[in-house]
Amino acid sequence: MPKRVLSGMQPTGRLHLGHYLGVLKNYVKLQEKFDCYFMAANWHSMTAFYHDYAQAHNFIAPMISDWLAAGLDPEKSVIFVQSDVPYHAELCLILSMYTPVSWLERNPTYKEKQENVEKDIDSYGFLGYPVLQAADIFLYRGQLVPIGEDQLPHLELSREIARRFNHINKLENANAIIEPEPLLSPSPKVVGTDGRKMSKSYGNTLSLSEDENDLRDKIKKMKTDTARIKRTDKGNPENCPVFSYYDYFLPDRKTEINSQCRSAGIGCIDCKMIIADKIIMETLPFREYRKKVINDSALVQDILQAGADRAKKTAGATMENIRNTLGINKPCQINV
Ligand code: TRP
Ligand code: SF4
Repeated sequence: MPKRVLSGMQPTGRLHLGHYLGVLKNYVKLQEKFDCYFMAANWHSMTAFYHDYAQAHNFIAPMISDWLAAGLDPEKSVIFVQSDVPYHAELCLILSMYTPVSWLERNPTYKEKQENVEKDIDSYGFLGYPVLQAADIFLYRGQLVPIGEDQLPHLELSREIARRFNHINKLENANAIIEPEPLLSPSPKVVGTDGRKMSKSYGNTLSLSEDENDLRDKIKKMKTDTARIKRTDKGNPENCPVFSYYDYFLPDRKTEINSQCRSAGIGCIDCKMIIADKIIMETLPFREYRKKVINDSALVQDILQAGADRAKKTAGATMENIRNTLGINKPCQINV
């Protein structure tokens, strides 16, 4: 039996090249080998968007559109939205009884976010973020969880919660919650148009479904090796964010561009246009899928409905089992 994979992504709207190279390509590969569940973690996004949740809800469809365009196949993977499966909330509540507050307070993501607050996220729900994440994984008996390095502390917490829950309830084997393992995706640090890490909050992204001309414009305006001022100056590709895109999109031409840059044989505009053409070509499916979805909104809705039905079946069976083990399903009776 193939192993079960569960992963989630917070819906933040259009995905960008960083998501594609770091996460999506990996999801698409995993669905060939494993029994995969991929989830839009919209309750998680509510921790930051509680004041205007409706806006965050609108981020779900564009994200799913990008997943599908990247090649996630609803025949192979279960693609669903967290809040379509209310069991996540129930299991989160139950697990919260088994999670010492001190474990959550020492979670590095919690501390970090609290320190550089742009938004007020000092809530009970945000503190419990990893508990909800544990519930996500346990409901599907997920064995492998593809995540980036930043999510490792959350996964470790899931494992601790699983152990404590199993220990306290004396659960073994089939009834025990599975301790999930991380599947560290080889996530390259994709740089944005300003040379910093590509991130929506820096406003330096190249989004996957971006208009062709916008993509070309953004790349044209990118900083290059700042020491290369005139066309005749020799450049150093190591100091150039544009060159890093050759790694992902045109590895075959790296050597050639590298020496051309160093000898001032190629100008930055030409060098940028080569990579822009290639990125535009690779992102074509995302623009096309976006158009399809805009013309036929039922497309994504139907996929998510079918995904929710399948997810509910799996999660419902786990939840039933947990309710039985805890004795929640027993009819109430007076026995003294
Ligand atoms: N916290 C994850 C992130 O921000 C998203 C997520 C929610 C998740 N539930 C999950 C990831 C379960 C893996 C498994 O990236
Ligand atoms: Fe960067 Fe290319 Fe210009 Fe060299 S030629 S500095 S690699 S954009």
